[in-house]
Order: sequence, then C-alpha cells, then structure tokens
Amino acid sequence: MEGEKTTFSVIKADVGGLVGHHIVHPALEETAESVLEEAVDELIIDFYVSHVGDDMVLIMTHNKGVDNAEIHGLAWKAFQKAAKVAKELGLYGAGQDLLSNAFSGNVRGLGPGVAEIEITERPSEPIIVFAADKTEAGAWNLPLFKMFADPFNTAGLVIDPSMHMGFRFEVWDLVEHKKVILSCPEEMYDLLVLIGSPGRFAIKRVFPKPGHHIPENEPVAVASTERLFEIAGRYAGKDDPVLVVRAQHGLPAVGEVLEAFAFPHLVAGWMRGSHWGPLMPVSVRHAGPTRFDGPPRVIGLGFQLKKGKLVGPEDMFDDPAFNRTRSLANMIADYMRRHGPFEPHRLSFQDLEYTTAPQVLEKLKNRFAPIEEAHGHQQ
Ligand code: F6R
Ligand code: MG
Ligand code: MG
Repeated sequence: MEGEKTTFSVIKADVGGLVGHHIVHPALEETAESVLEEAVDELIIDFYVSHVGDDMVLIMTHNKGVDNAEIHGLAWKAFQKAAKVAKELGLYGAGQDLLSNAFSGNVRGLGPGVAEIEITERPSEPIIVFAADKTEAGAWNLPLFKMFADPFNTAGLVIDPSMHMGFRFEVWDLVEHKKVILSCPEEMYDLLVLIGSPGRFAIKRVFPKPGHHIPENEPVAVASTERLFEIAGRYAGKDDPVLVVRAQHGLPAVGEVLEAFAFPHLVAGWMRGSHWGPLMPVSVRHAGPTRFDGPPRVIGLGFQLKKGKLVGPEDMFDDPAFNRTRSLANMIADYMRRHGPFEPHRLSFQDLEYTTAPQVLEKLKNRFAPIEEAHGHQQ
C-alpha cells in the first residue's frame, strides 16, 4: 500500500565472488546501482549499494510496504544483471544465490536474504544496516538480545523512562517454521532458552511495547532469516544475514547498538559453512574474508532517514574503538583453528548434515557393521 510510511528494504545476495568467495567485484555493484538508479522517483525514493565479503547488499527506500512485488522485482533484476556481469568476468560462483529462476513477485525462497521494515518516520530517524558474511541468521541473536534486553549493554533500559518497559522479540523456529513473541524483561529466561540455540531459533523482529511512542506493531529491528540449505535442498553456502536496527530517542542509542558487537562472539559459518568462529566487526574497507575464508565478519552502515532519503552512510566500525574487539577475534580465530577438524571448531555432527559432509559419509555406508558385543560379554 502506498502511503505516509516509509519502507526500508535491505535485500542481499551472493552473485559472484572476486577470487573465490572473497569479495564483490566493483563492476557488480555498479551494475546494480545503474538498475536501481533508473527506478529512483519511479519506484524507489533512494538507494545505496554495498557489500560484505561476497554478498552484495541493496538498500532501498520507498512507499510500497514490505514484500512488494515491484520492489522485489527490481532487486531481482539488479541481481540478475550483476550475475550476468559476474559470468562474463568469470567470477567465482556467479549467480550463486539466485537459486531459482521462478520469480513470481517475491525474492523470498529464491536465495536472496531479506530484511524489510515499514515505519512512520520520526523527525530524525537514525537507522543502521548490519551485514555479515560467512555466518547464519542466528548470529544476530546475541547482539540483538544485548541491544534490546541486556541492561549491562544498554544503559537506556535502566535509566531512560521511555524504554524502561523493555521490548518484545519475535523468534522464528527455523526448523519447525513457527514463530513466537516473547516479552522482555518478564520472559527473558524463556527467550534465552530459544535464542541460545542460534542454528534453530533466530530473532526475526523486535517490537516496542504498548505505551512506547513508536506504535507497538511497528518493528524497531528486523533481520533476514532465509536458510540457503532449505531453499536449495543442498549445501549452498551459509546464509550471510542482514539486519536493520533503528536507534535513539526511546530506542538503544547508536553507541548501545554498536556496543553489542564489542564482544566477538562465536558464530557458525566460516570455512565451508562448517566451523565456529568469532564474528569480527570491520570497516567496509576490510569487509573481505581471507583467513580460512574468514573469520566471519560484520559491517555496520549508519544512515539518517529523511522522507525516505538516505543521508549517509557512516562506516560505523571504521573506528579504533573496535581494535581490541578485532584483536580478540583474531586471537580466538587462532585458538579455534588449532582444533583443525575437531569439534567444537567444526560444527556438531548433526549440523554437518546441512553441509557437504553427508556425501563423504555416503561411501562408508555399506561398510558399517552392527556391533554384536553384548554388554560386558564377548560373543
Ligand atoms: C562459506 C563459503 C566458503 C566456501 C568454500 C568452498 O560460506 O562460502 O567458505 O564454502 O570456499 O567453496 P567451493 O565449494 O565453492 O570451492
Ligand atoms: Mg560465494
Ligand atoms: Mg557470503
């Protein structure tokens, strides 16, 4: 529906890597930019194209609401054109995340990741886009919990009366395809039971509570939760999620939002989507995973939104204040790597089922024999 509200759409996909799965070639971004440029004033108000690792991120503002066929169609066109360029340049995994050609009005279920939010713009609307490479949607669970529920991270939860009541979390069960809304601080421990297992449960949205000056049905944060394995039915890389967070004036301050990334927590992904590694916050300049295809990394792009226009971005992690986080991440990377193919560096056996490991085990299938020894007795 067209109206007063502004929709902020972030749609991302890996359509080809420059040197393996390292980074997006500038020509792909230029191609996507030219597609989006043509749609300005027709379909969209403004846009910005960026990348983290081999994932291209399209940020678009418009008045069409979430899940809009024209907006998704525009993103799909941009990705397809960029994938064509990637193929011409022989880039690696060209068209990798465009898993199906059956576009019929929505990119969800076709490969790209989507985080969209329709908001009533406040007079000043600070908004931050986070994008991560070599990890999964549940990687946002810990930082989102910190931002919106942890008083040790977000001082405002304690001392700002306009957010003292807390927030509500919409959690998706990515296996059973169900969702639940949990309210913090009252249901904090229930929430943690779920989101502490980020491979299974992921926070999709955060909402204000009744009484907040932002309408209670209007999200203040939204994440992408697409799972490539489920869409493709086979290992197709990790899901490399995006996240949109609104900040300030009754919401976590920009600094409280960023503080949630000061601890480089362990996330699933990294090499072959099969290893636990630290999530390292980096500037866009350093957004290309290298060592062991990692470590997994996250960028933060800060905007002020005004009548749908994007003012910015600021490269939020381009700051020595995150040097210690990065050096700790590198120490953790050393430590985890020393385990080689052993858990808990490598994902659990159960989680490896979503990777290429089952194909390797297949050939041993017929060599497994029953263990015939009775308990304590030799047969
Ligand atoms: C993880 C990722 C990479 C690849 C790895 C092997 O999400 O993208 O770590 O899994 O480089 O890639 P292929 O199988 O394409 O050689
Ligand atoms: Mg790739
Ligand atoms: Mg990627």
